[in-house]
Parts: sequence; C-alpha cells; structure tokens
Amino acid sequence: MKKSLNITIALVAAFSLVSCFNDNKPNYQFMPNMYEPVGYETYGEYDIFENEQEAKLPAEGSIPRGWTPYEYDNTTEGLNLAKAELKNPLDITEDNISEGEALYTIYCAVCHGDKGDGQGILAEREKFLGIPSYADPGRTITMGGTYHVQMYGLNAMGSYASQTNEKERWQIAMHVMDLKAALNGEASLLETAGAKAADSTNMESSTEEGDKMNTEDAANTSENETN
Ligand code: HEC
Repeated sequence: MKKSLNITIALVAAFSLVSCFNDNKPNYQFMPNMYEPVGYETYGEYDIFENEQEAKLPAEGSIPRGWTPYEYDNTTEGLNLAKAELKNPLDITEDNISEGEALYTIYCAVCHGDKGDGQGILAEREKFLGIPSYADPGRTITMGGTYHVQMYGLNAMGSYASQTNEKERWQIAMHVMDLKAALNGEASLLETAGAKAADSTNMESSTEEGDKMNTEDAANTSENETN
C-alpha cells in the first residue's frame, strides 16, 4: 500500500514538472552569460543606438583593408599626370602578363579588339564609336594612363575599378603595353625587361615593391575566404 502511494506521488511530481513545459517559450537559463554575450551583438537591435541598430557605417575617410587610395583626379589633368608619372609596381613576369592577357580578353577585347587596334566585336557592330587603337600616336598611351582609365573610365568607356583589383589592373595595363608594342613593331615588355636585367639596382627595388604587393594581395584573399 505504502509502495503504491510512493509511486503515485513520484508519477504526479514527474508529470506536473513535464506538463508545465511550454515549447514556445525559451527554457530557463541558469547562466545566461554563457550563451548571451555581455557586449552588443553584431547587427543587434539596441535602443541606445541611432535607428536602434548596432551596425554602423564606417567613419568618414575610412579605407577598406588592402585598398590603396588612388590620388589622381578624374580629369584630363589627372589622366595626363598619371600618364607621365604613375608607375607599375609589379614585376614584369610571364605570369603577370598572361594573367593580364586573360583579364583583357574578358573585360576589354569586346571593344578594343584582341590586338588592341580598336576593332573589337562591338566596334565592328558599330555599338561604340571612337574606340582608339593603342598605337594611336595622338594618345601616347602609357602604363600609368591605362591604369587611370581603368579606375575612372573615359567618356564611352566605363570604369573597371569594381570588377578588378589593383594587381589585376596593372596586369591588364602590362598586356595593353604589349599590344601597343606589337602594333608598333616594337619589343615586348618581357624582351625589354630581359635587356634591362643587367642593370641590377633597378631590378632590386622593383622586386621589393612587387613582393610587398603580392603579400598584401595574399592577405586579402585569405581574409575574404574566412568571411
Ligand atoms: C565599351 C567599350 C570599351 C571597353 C569594354 C573598354 N574600353 Fe577602353 N576605350 C573605349 C573608348 C570609346 C575609348 C576612347 C575614349 C575617349 O577618348 O573618349 C577608350 C579609350 C581607352 C584608352 C585610351 C586612353 C587615353 O589615354 O586616351 C585605353 C588605354 C583604354 N581604353 C584601355 C581599356 C582597358 C584596359 C579596358 C579593359 C579593362 C577597356 N579599355 C575597356 C571603349 C572601351
């Protein structure tokens, strides 16, 4: 008799504990700080912030990591200055040049043509007019100038600053210089670099800069991967 009474009490106790549980409400948390951070949650809503949102715009003048500010203005003077003094920081290597050729085929050849003579498919179909040949003597196209027009575009030509990164734009600019040289029957960048190799001081400084950029780029890539 006493035994069955005990069993009944135990059953009632167990049942009443379980029956009060409501799936729709959060359960008891014994140590909430273990689960909920004391600091603000990213993208959380808090009264203390403007619009109650924790996420903020970066402070004015912030620069994304790995982004190098571009100091030339989007004007004719800016373009001429870039043509005159902006220098390619990368090494003249087969890798850089073939990378540049591949990117050029993707982004530029539709207008400028595979040879850089301004006879791309869109020029043939007369979708865009006034596409110059890179060998156009009136334009004195340089590596710095080619980088500049990729940053800002030029009239009918759009900007490529959001499709390509700094390194890619320089690689494309190298290929453009090779196309120009071929159109003019001059030596390619690799050939010229080979001839210059004897000048050792020159090579050393350019290698250092090139390496710095490569490591920066590598850091960016790994950062993007973790995001
Ligand atoms: C939609 C067609 C189009 C595409 C795509 C295009 N361009 Fe152009 N590009 C033009 C036109 C048009 C001009 C002439 C602009 C002017 O002077 O008004 C030009 C001019 C240029 C010039 C000469 C600038 C100077 O100093 O006068 C260079 C260099 C150049 N483009 C490089 C590129 C590169 C590199 C790419 C690919 C990243 C590219 N373009 C993609 C249409 C295009």
